[in-house]
Amino acid sequence: VQGGSLAIRGRLLSFDADPRDEALGRAVRYIEDGLVVVEKGLIREVGEASDLLQRLRPDMTVVDHRPHLVLPGFIDPHLHMPQTQVIASYGAELMEWLAKYTFPEESRYGDPAVAASASRFLLDELLASGTTTAGVFCTSHPESVDAFFTEAAGRGMRMVAGKVMMDRNGPPALLDTPETGYQQSRDLIRRWHGKGRLSYAISPRFAPTSSEMQLEAAEALASEFPDMHIQTHLSENEAEIAFVREAFPWSKDYTEVYERYGLVREKAMFGHCIHLSVRERAALSAGGATAVFCPTSNLFLGSGLFDREAMREGGIRIGLATDIGGGTSYSMLRTAAEAYKVLALRGQKLPALEAFHMMTAGNAEAMGLDSRIGRLVPGHEADFVVLDSSATATMRRRMERVETLEEELFALMTLGDERATVATYVFGERAYERGTTRRPLPA
Ligand code: GUN
Ligand code: ZN
Repeated sequence: VQGGSLAIRGRLLSFDADPRDEALGRAVRYIEDGLVVVEKGLIREVGEASDLLQRLRPDMTVVDHRPHLVLPGFIDPHLHMPQTQVIASYGAELMEWLAKYTFPEESRYGDPAVAASASRFLLDELLASGTTTAGVFCTSHPESVDAFFTEAAGRGMRMVAGKVMMDRNGPPALLDTPETGYQQSRDLIRRWHGKGRLSYAISPRFAPTSSEMQLEAAEALASEFPDMHIQTHLSENEAEIAFVREAFPWSKDYTEVYERYGLVREKAMFGHCIHLSVRERAALSAGGATAVFCPTSNLFLGSGLFDREAMREGGIRIGLATDIGGGTSYSMLRTAAEAYKVLALRGQKLPALEAFHMMTAGNAEAMGLDSRIGRLVPGHEADFVVLDSSATATMRRRMERVETLEEELFALMTLGDERATVATYVFGERAYERGTTRRPLPA
């Protein structure tokens, strides 16, 4: 990947730490008239425009995005590529929703053309929402992973994705076996892992759809690739938890199933984590794993209310994700807005600065990618989202009474969605621009 060179001027916002843990002055970097200088896809310099413009190379293009905000591209640590046509399916909790809508739909994804067109749609939708990196479940068909990575590579995006492993409790068209699940994952790792900006994630769907032999196969992969991402689901729904209790009678709780097979570790991302016990939280914390909060999905499927305070007290890394298509929006802004409401129902707060930290540096950390993405600092990859806080009449009206950056950000996350995306940059190249039709990929 060659990567673009340019300079971007705007109101820069980036986080060096979680604003909740550090003094605001140390956590939040905000430059009212700032410049980010990009060379070959990487951030070269960040600072005051007045200063950097004076010594900018004369051949550098400056894109002036004032008065808009420029942030690191949003990161979405958990979503499902094959669920773009499952989103907004009516009236079911998790287990019924999977059987009635999701599994039949995913059964189509052995067809490379179906998987390619869904991947194109998904990636364009993410870029329109300002999301530049995601943790992605494909289906159990290796073709779906080939299609997804091909499309992601064509756009130069940093993506983490994997083939779902599932060998029981689903329709035959979706089931692999312990052997094929292992072998197909292994082949995909060889083909894609570390190629450009792509990384593979070992992806057992969740305990109910894997036999013990398949979980052993996942364990074998995890120990062969100790630095690799792992992604799965944990403790989303009461009926799911009861199912796990029956299927793994030896296990004292849901989390222990994953522990037994060596899957609770750093860079292991567990979607949902709603109904965990104190012991389970301690196990996630000890393993250095990440709990991924998916508010629009948790509300839509009636799964329950994520307990952010308990996670934080337990010292667990937290991600914030859309969980398309249990989730109902591709937009991280809408996801943050719903996170605020879920936490409100728990009597907890989500200040805007913490929410924007979660969407950027926090999710980078949750995915173990914080050395490359998530902040506006030299050396990081040049993925940006440019946001318009006055994108709609509703927002413009509200902004008339906004006095501080925090108030602006809170109204932006509460009222904003993809309409607030002015532009999205991937590795120093403009990948989305508001008001233009989706541009074809460069040849
Ligand atoms: N648990 C297992 N598979 C899924 C899925 O596709 N979506 C959600 N929300 N939960 C799951
Ligand atoms: Zn999910």
